[in-house]
Amino acid sequence: MGVVLASAVWLFFLLGEAVPMADGMGCNWGTRSSHPLPADIVVRLLRDNNFDKVKLFEADAAALRALGRSGIEVMVGIPNELLAPLAGSVNAAEQWVMQNVSTYVSQYGVNITHVAVGNEPFLKTYNGMFENTTFAALQNIQAALIKAGLSRQVRVTVPLNADVYQSGASGLPSSGDFRNDIHGLMVAIVGFLQDNGGTFTVNIYPFLSLYLDPHFPLDYAFFSPSANPIVDGPISYSNAFEASYDTLIWALERNGFGSMPVIVGEIGWPTDGDIHANVDYARRFNQGLVDRIRQRRGTPKRPAPPDIYLFGLLDEDQKSIQPGNFEPHWGLFYYDGSLKYQFVMDDGRPLVPARGVRYLERHWCVLSSTASVTDPNIADAVGYACEYADCTSLGYGSSCNGLDARGNVSYAFNQLFQVANQQKGACNFSDLSVVTETDPSQGSCKFNIMIDEGKHDRAVNTSGTGGGGALLRRWAAVAILLLWTISYVL
Ligand SMILES: *[C@@H]1O[C@H](CO)[C@@H](O)[C@H](O)[C@H]1NC(C)=O
Ligand SMILES: *[C@@H]1O[C@H](CO)[C@@H](O)[C@H](O)[C@H]1NC(C)=O
Ligand SMILES: *[C@@H]1O[C@H](CO)[C@@H](O)[C@H](O)[C@H]1NC(C)=O
Ligand SMILES: *[C@@H]1O[C@H](CO)[C@@H](O)[C@H](O)[C@H]1NC(C)=O
Ligand SMILES: *[C@@H]1O[C@H](CO)[C@@H](O)[C@H](O)[C@H]1NC(C)=O
Repeated sequence: MGVVLASAVWLFFLLGEAVPMADGMGCNWGTRSSHPLPADIVVRLLRDNNFDKVKLFEADAAALRALGRSGIEVMVGIPNELLAPLAGSVNAAEQWVMQNVSTYVSQYGVNITHVAVGNEPFLKTYNGMFENTTFAALQNIQAALIKAGLSRQVRVTVPLNADVYQSGASGLPSSGDFRNDIHGLMVAIVGFLQDNGGTFTVNIYPFLSLYLDPHFPLDYAFFSPSANPIVDGPISYSNAFEASYDTLIWALERNGFGSMPVIVGEIGWPTDGDIHANVDYARRFNQGLVDRIRQRRGTPKRPAPPDIYLFGLLDEDQKSIQPGNFEPHWGLFYYDGSLKYQFVMDDGRPLVPARGVRYLERHWCVLSSTASVTDPNIADAVGYACEYADCTSLGYGSSCNGLDARGNVSYAFNQLFQVANQQKGACNFSDLSVVTETDPSQGSCKFNIMIDEGKHDRAVNTSGTGGGGALLRRWAAVAILLLWTISYVL
């Protein structure tokens, strides 16, 4: 027995298997990128860094397949646009569960633990658009999970923004309750979740509090002693996260759900696009958060730490910047899985970057030295580039804000050139631009080279039994290349 156990432990190490943790870290894997990293590279990145949970905003087929037999638990999201059709038809919900849950569980061995119905559907800025459909969609999905025989392993939830609850006149966490305009709906939904073994999922963003309120005390956003604690009876709150989370716990308790399990579905800090969005602050916030998890620290009102999904894993250059220019920059990693800052994970090991990423050539598109920055065509050219590519690093307080006028134009040109895969015609702004092999990056401002979607190393299949699969794929790729070359020559 002892020998068997010892060999099992050895086998674990030999296979490079991460030792499962009690309460690991999760993260959000969004895919709003012009050039998403291949799913197998992302899954390897997750495993290398001991993430044991991941949240997807929709049932992305490539991501789900790559997560099969990875040992990583998966929360699959349903986009808000699908809430109305799912609310209106039990059959639509059954189809959704069959196509997007059952298939992946049974055919690919994906460990789907949660279905997230909608994404912050009651956000105030939506003006009630999803209020009539969320609850019905939730009920239909739960019924479909039961019918599919999956309701024991897959739990339903609704990721909600922290604006679904608020403190009362005192402003203290202990006065927490659900927002007035959706109070009845919230009680109905939480009651349903409780009856069906579901969980409450909340997204908490101290960064946004700071961004939206110029008087918000900076220290209070982080996990360090604050000069401005909020004193609530015997409890002194020194950071926004604890105060917000406990306001929710009070709101749940006030409505009879004191033992409702809570997950933090999104939490994080962006690194660019705003004066408060930078690498130092992001590191300070995220490290403070992960250190709490390592110490198994909860909040004054709930001493057990919640499961947490960091937002997000990678930068996403095609996120809507309507909420702010920081939106593309929430990643713990840059768009290519490279490190932004030194960071220690909850297992005490330093964060490591993605492996096997291939890039386009070291070519950049810049303003030609013969072009004048006052050329009347410049404004249109830059406007065009920044409409299709991400120029949010140029703004006030951002990483490229120190560029001069020529640098600004070059940055915009290059962003579009990279998004267009460095195609010949893409560095053609009415004769104002030229391709260079000299890296124009300066200081904190990085002129990116896009990843080459066609050329990545196939990640070693992580399933243990799939090594042959990876090899097969590689051979298939070689064979196709050969065939292609032959037919080309002929
Ligand atoms: C499964 O999810 C995908 C991605 O959200 C969606 O496009 C598709 O319609 C879903 N399938 C069904 C049957 O609803
Ligand atoms: C899926 O994850 C849950 C929660 O960690 C775990 O209990 C279960 O054994 C996992 N299932 C599979 C098939 O790995
Ligand atoms: C939701 O339902 C109410 C009552 O039936 C109705 O007045 C309202 O217009 C609906 N809202 C939307 C966005 O459909
Ligand atoms: C560069 O572009 C940014 C954003 O468009 C602008 O705020 C800044 O003033 C520009 N800098 C110069 C020197 O033109
Ligand atoms: C550049 O654009 C012009 C028209 O805008 C076109 O005539 C020319 O062929 C383009 N050059 C390249 C190299 O694509």
